[in-house]
Amino acid sequence: MKKFYITTPLYYVNDKPHLGHSYTTIAADVLARYYRARSGDAFLLTGTDEHGSKIEEASLKHGSTPVEWADSIVGNFKGLWKRLNISYDDFIRTTEPRHIKKVQEVFAKLLESGDIYKGRYSGWYCVSCEAFCADAQVIDGKCPDCARQVSLVEEESYFFKLSKYQDKIIEHYEKNPDFLKPSWRAAEMKNFVKSGLKDLSVSRTQVKWGIPVPGDEKHTIYVWFDALLNYLSASEGRDIWPCDIHFVGKEIFKFHTVIWPAILMALGVTLPKTVFAHGWWTVNGEKMSKSKGNFVDPNVFIDKYGCDAYRYFVLRQIPFGQDGDFSESCLLERYNSDLANNLGNLVSRTLSMMSKYGLKNLRASSGSGTPIGAAVSAFAPKFYLAMENAEFGAALSHIWEIINITNKTIDSEKPWALAKSDPKKLEQVMSDILSALVLIADNLRFFMPETSDRIKKILECGEVSEPLFPRLQ
Ligand code: ME8
Ligand code: MG
Repeated sequence: MKKFYITTPLYYVNDKPHLGHSYTTIAADVLARYYRARSGDAFLLTGTDEHGSKIEEASLKHGSTPVEWADSIVGNFKGLWKRLNISYDDFIRTTEPRHIKKVQEVFAKLLESGDIYKGRYSGWYCVSCEAFCADAQVIDGKCPDCARQVSLVEEESYFFKLSKYQDKIIEHYEKNPDFLKPSWRAAEMKNFVKSGLKDLSVSRTQVKWGIPVPGDEKHTIYVWFDALLNYLSASEGRDIWPCDIHFVGKEIFKFHTVIWPAILMALGVTLPKTVFAHGWWTVNGEKMSKSKGNFVDPNVFIDKYGCDAYRYFVLRQIPFGQDGDFSESCLLERYNSDLANNLGNLVSRTLSMMSKYGLKNLRASSGSGTPIGAAVSAFAPKFYLAMENAEFGAALSHIWEIINITNKTIDSEKPWALAKSDPKKLEQVMSDILSALVLIADNLRFFMPETSDRIKKILECGEVSEPLFPRLQ
């Protein structure tokens, strides 16, 4: 059976990973864990984008070759994914032979079919975005997307016949409402395509660090043409294509929803089902950048708050799809309130009552008539729907509804009083509470795998050795 195929972007290796990279990757990991549990299996692909001037310039600046530089940054990415418990099935690097072979094959095929042809390019290029910019959009020599200086490029180039696919792309958007997600982002892409697509320059003679054009080696293949094809090269020999969902940040939505489908159409390959663009994290209201010194290194916060708290925070703090702001004070507040108080307390007070009232062997079953029973039975459909729509914050809030209802039920049913007045009722209420804890652990495990395991272990052995989330200052 075909596995549910999920991808992250292939991150540039010009610099170490930051909050933004961790965000997309955590989201993709959460969904992969969910589909592995729900529908048998999933395949999570991540990796790195290593060719092009941006990487070449970064490596030169550090006095190393692109290969040495890429190797060291890849170490940083893999190290972070390990710390964040990212369950990827494959990590692809665009410098690997399996990928280079695929890119050259595709290039040759499209050259042969006439979808790629030779011409001359003259226009603006932004190295930071690795993108060509339309004349009308370049003001004062600045990139319309990142505001950095663009350079004038004038050279022989191969072109991909993007214009030929304009109508087909629109038609695909209209027939497949799930292709562009969230749906409120669709209009912008439709308008962009309708405004007219120009053929795309897909090779450079001035860039040496890239995959050579087969048969015309003074050209290297445009880094985006190269990078997008990774999703296909990684699928080779595996039953995963078509991709079910590409997760991307909003700034690269266009590459994935215009150029990518056109390349696949030219190849006669089935299109991915969904491209989902999430929003941007800012830091204290500003765009993250090394030069501003507000570059958020996930390692710092994992050290301080733990992997699961970090995973929880990034998906809970802002609705997936929207922009949002990162600040340590918000992280600390959520840690103390949602994790230490609501969740941590629930687990420890339940366990201490179980042991105090001699109920260590009690089984979970909801149905004593407390509000927990109704909440537990209403949970699954809401939660699944949120997960399948990639509404991770909403999915977490459904889990927290159960946590809050359970804490309130303990306060109102007062097991400590029932222990004296009504031992039968006490057992029923405690068994309700246990059923809530099982449900919480089972569903939290996509988001917080270690915490979920710890709760399960605590429930099995009936003891809490230390708090799940010690309060922090
Ligand atoms: O664009 N907020 O790589 P990249 C949220 N190599 N997410 C962010 C973010 C932020 N502030 N900053 C980065 C590339 N991201 C290309 C992709 S794919 C075939 C090639 C995340 O290293 C987000 O997913 O610039 C964004 O799209 C990605 O990192 C860009 O990573
Ligand atoms: Mg970028």
